[in-house]
Amino acid sequence: DRHLLGLKSLGKEEIVSILDRAAYWESHTHKLSPVLEGKFVANMFFENSTRTRFSFEVAEKRLGAQVLNFAAAASSVEKGESIYDTVRTLESMGIDAGVIRMKPIGLLAELAEKIKVPLINAGDGNNEHPTQALLDLYTIRKTFGEFKGLTVAIIGDIMHSRVARSNLWGLQKMGATVKFCAPDNMQAPELSEFAGYVTMEEALQADVVMMLRVQLERHDKGFIRSAEDYRAHYGLTVERAGMMKPHAIIMHPAPINRGVEIDDELVECDKSKIFTQMSHGVPIRMAVVERALS
Ligand code: CP
Repeated sequence: DRHLLGLKSLGKEEIVSILDRAAYWESHTHKLSPVLEGKFVANMFFENSTRTRFSFEVAEKRLGAQVLNFAAAASSVEKGESIYDTVRTLESMGIDAGVIRMKPIGLLAELAEKIKVPLINAGDGNNEHPTQALLDLYTIRKTFGEFKGLTVAIIGDIMHSRVARSNLWGLQKMGATVKFCAPDNMQAPELSEFAGYVTMEEALQADVVMMLRVQLERHDKGFIRSAEDYRAHYGLTVERAGMMKPHAIIMHPAPINRGVEIDDELVECDKSKIFTQMSHGVPIRMAVVERALS
């Protein structure tokens, strides 16, 4: 199975093999290694993206693939064409693999049964964002060397977060302990059997403090009282960062709401791995695209 639908369905050995291959690509000094010359990859984004879309494009181009970029807003999706018909259309034109981001949950598994070329999940609703979690795992492994004995606190909008879900599945498979911290109305009840909810004070004692973006576009009005109120209760402020362990790191998938879930001054502080995470997006996606086409 060359699809990558999520980390819940991916074995530990597969995860380790992707991380190892990403380490190879990160250490590779040549910018171009055309191992995918002659292959066509379509990036199909039915939801907005900066990091995921561009790092897939950089990864594909570094491997020498021909890249087709599809943006829903400039396509026949605007005329009512379905996601299935769009993907089927690109498949009929001869693409060799597809990277896809979309809102509906469950549709990707259906597509993967009907579409013959490998599909890579670039984020589906609040379900999974496997390449984000893989680059997060890569960043954690590179910092600490191993996962055993590590505690990762994921703080914020768990309910709407595909990043939290993919990280939960991936981190637990690798042997780390995951704790969640969220206001009552941002908790995901179906996940509570896998990770317990702790106070902000306890979350700050973790080895990895992973902040999530407050996803204002997925909330009804009134879901958070105000940005100031959210920051006061669940934001990583400079004062709270001062309570973290000396060796602990700060992570965030970005985009960031500066001054809401994390203070501006912390985004590029010594503890922060936020831009390092972004740079790891390229070698991880090189490993993932190569795996899909090998
Ligand atoms: N972290 C992440 O998925 O960012 P984008 O939405 O910009 O791709």
